[in-house]
Amino acid sequence: MGLLDYQKIKQDFPLLQTKMNGQSLVFLDSAASSQKPQRVIDTFANYYRCRNANIHRGAYRLSYEATDLYDQTREKIARFLNARSSIECIFTRNTTESINIVASSWGDANIQAGDEIVISELEHHSNLVPWMMLAERKGAVLKHIPLTDDSRYDYTRLDEVIGPKTKIVAVQHMSNAVGTIHDLKQIRDKARAVGAMFSVDGAQGACHLKVDVQELDCDFYSLSAHKMLGPTGVGVLYGKQELLEAMPPFLGGGDMILSVSKDGFKAAGLPEKFEAGTPNIAGVVAFAVALDYLDQVGLEKIHGHEQEILKYAYDELERLNGIILYGTREFAERGAVVSFNVEGVHSHDVGTILDEEGIAIRAGHHCCEPFMRKHDLSGTARASFYIYNGPEDVDALVRGLVKVKEIFKSVVPA
Ligand code: ALA
Repeated sequence: MGLLDYQKIKQDFPLLQTKMNGQSLVFLDSAASSQKPQRVIDTFANYYRCRNANIHRGAYRLSYEATDLYDQTREKIARFLNARSSIECIFTRNTTESINIVASSWGDANIQAGDEIVISELEHHSNLVPWMMLAERKGAVLKHIPLTDDSRYDYTRLDEVIGPKTKIVAVQHMSNAVGTIHDLKQIRDKARAVGAMFSVDGAQGACHLKVDVQELDCDFYSLSAHKMLGPTGVGVLYGKQELLEAMPPFLGGGDMILSVSKDGFKAAGLPEKFEAGTPNIAGVVAFAVALDYLDQVGLEKIHGHEQEILKYAYDELERLNGIILYGTREFAERGAVVSFNVEGVHSHDVGTILDEEGIAIRAGHHCCEPFMRKHDLSGTARASFYIYNGPEDVDALVRGLVKVKEIFKSVVPA
């Protein structure tokens, strides 16, 4: 695996140098939240130690400087996504909040009874429940893009669900449950052909794949900093300027107003209109360092490295009997998420035994209950890989699974 010096990269992540249950930590849950490099942690701590003040308010130097730092991250994320302008990038708490802004603010203003909202059964609850709530409020109809047996969108059947009544198509960039990377351009073209909006849940996208919102020509793209080496509690909603300008505010409060009188208020312009209240300033400031880190390594290299690990993990896991693997084997259409079950063993038991070996995976429905129900699964075990993982992490996982099989030998095929 020569694309990335992942072992050197690993040295930058203090938690990855620690032990868990007496064993060296093997962290295979970056799809839930990535680890943070020392420089991101230092920036966060230094902000509180040396720079802390509220933004946009104080008539003093510390506050001006805090505002500058906060706005510098906005410039950085705009460049990272190739947005036309930084005012198209709204800071939120996470992807969930970003999608809720679209579903509430754009949705309430634009969706009428009988309109259709297109999603799929593979979506994370964050890209399902806000649309369900909108459909319920408005009497709109949810339509689901059919899935292939190997958990891809069935592009041959898009016309069955995207039609003249479609007002918005809201899909994920990459599946957190089974790792499928979707061909967003095909979906976008279908949405555009019927005049519908196109919104992307990028929680698992921007951390692994180069995103160019102008080239993608999406209307909205939502992401979370904590899956991109950054702090928790910071998300971004990218939206086209003319759409964001036309949308009403999401939350009311401080900072999102131009003026307030006894009888009403005038909303501020972008981006403040959508950033009511004191945000996670330290988190936003530290996010800039995470973006620099990803830029320095390069997303193309990161994706290439993850493809190598994915193939290696598949080869090794397929050698073990009694392991059921989910998701497509078209590796060009998938990221480094390996979802599996050990035959006859609940995924939580797999997770617990691996944890005793110092291996952190996620087990359960991964916030994708409709998808699990469709496949009659109570859940899966999920190993997800990132910039700091290497083949030795896969080897540790395989050793752990051999142990799971030994413990459950009465039910797992030898
Ligand atoms: N959505 C995150 C995951 O897939 C939390 O684990």
